[in-house]
Amino acid sequence: MGIYSKNGMDTSNKRVTVFDTTLRDGEQSPGTKFSFKEKLKIASALEDMGVDIIEAGFPAVSNDEFHSVREINSVTSRSTVCGLSRCNDNDIYSVINTGLNYIHIFIATSDIHLRNKLKITREEAIEKIKKSIENAKKAGLYVEFSAEDATRTDMDFLIKVFKEAKASGASKINIPDTVGVMNPISMMNLISNIKENIKIPISVHCHNDFGLATANSIFGVLGGASQVQVTVNGIGERAGNASFEEVVTSLSAFMNKKTSIDFSKIYKTSKMVSEYSGMEIQKNKAITGENAFSHEAGIHVNGIINYPATYEAINPELVGRQRNIVIGKHSGKSSIQWVLNKNNMKCSDEEIKFILDEIKSDNSKRVLGEKDIINMANTIKIKGD
Ligand code: KIV
Ligand code: ZN
Repeated sequence: MGIYSKNGMDTSNKRVTVFDTTLRDGEQSPGTKFSFKEKLKIASALEDMGVDIIEAGFPAVSNDEFHSVREINSVTSRSTVCGLSRCNDNDIYSVINTGLNYIHIFIATSDIHLRNKLKITREEAIEKIKKSIENAKKAGLYVEFSAEDATRTDMDFLIKVFKEAKASGASKINIPDTVGVMNPISMMNLISNIKENIKIPISVHCHNDFGLATANSIFGVLGGASQVQVTVNGIGERAGNASFEEVVTSLSAFMNKKTSIDFSKIYKTSKMVSEYSGMEIQKNKAITGENAFSHEAGIHVNGIINYPATYEAINPELVGRQRNIVIGKHSGKSSIQWVLNKNNMKCSDEEIKFILDEIKSDNSKRVLGEKDIINMANTIKIKGD
């Protein structure tokens, strides 16, 4: 048991289901539009990584969406494919007609959404929930039900909604933090409260408006959720969703949880999604950013060379990456020596000092690579001959 168990957190080593919504919520990123082929390639990469459930899209949205969901379902065998639906017959039939067995039905439940968007009462919302879940169940679908804007919904009403959803046939409930207003503690408490009231598998779906989506997802799991909804690179509406790579790796590395994900394929998939979504990965992004396993400062490089764990939380190879030593004004002797050793070259202490002085006096913003160091070393050797 971990350090959190005394506080009522779920620290068991249970398996957490990974529900990926890159192709649905991820594609809702402003400016992102995947082509049909790109969607198929992403779905195949997600399946290869071991994703349990792929939300392939929202079939009622357009003909193109309908066809891509249907095609993804027909070529996917290891992951379960799911489609999104509002609480209406047209959406539900669209999902049924794609051939899917798994439907993700949602309706907003907060007063803000009921009054200003749907313009219906709480009672009318409950009626829609009952009717649509019953219809989907009658058609033989597995139903996951989401209460959109759950985290701004009156708590008693939210519990009522989920109880009705379960009674109507939902097999799993999802708690979306639709506008990202939760913090880790409030998320954990919310999930454990719902768990105490309803016996049903719980999923969390966190948005990143305050940069807390990953932390909130993990604390949702500590509160008792058994599923996380995530997107590769954290793409999604506004500031995005919880990042696939951050959530799955931290669940495993620090939270004692298991997932079915093959971490070594994360980087490749992340690059693919970045290219197809047109959204660059920020350099200092955890796990997949260019700098995530790069080291420059002399003290750090010295530590890394002696024992990588001194400055690395996880081995980069675990997530399909490689350690990188960057040469710059913070570099020390170890970095130069590391490059020389790697390239079977030898320099005296004075020569190394000369190279370092050259680097430190370079006021341009240019980033030096191994080749530059080799060239400098060769130049010194030629001059010295
Ligand atoms: O953020 C949200 O509320 C959603 C729902 C459709 C699950 O994406
Ligand atoms: Zn969302």
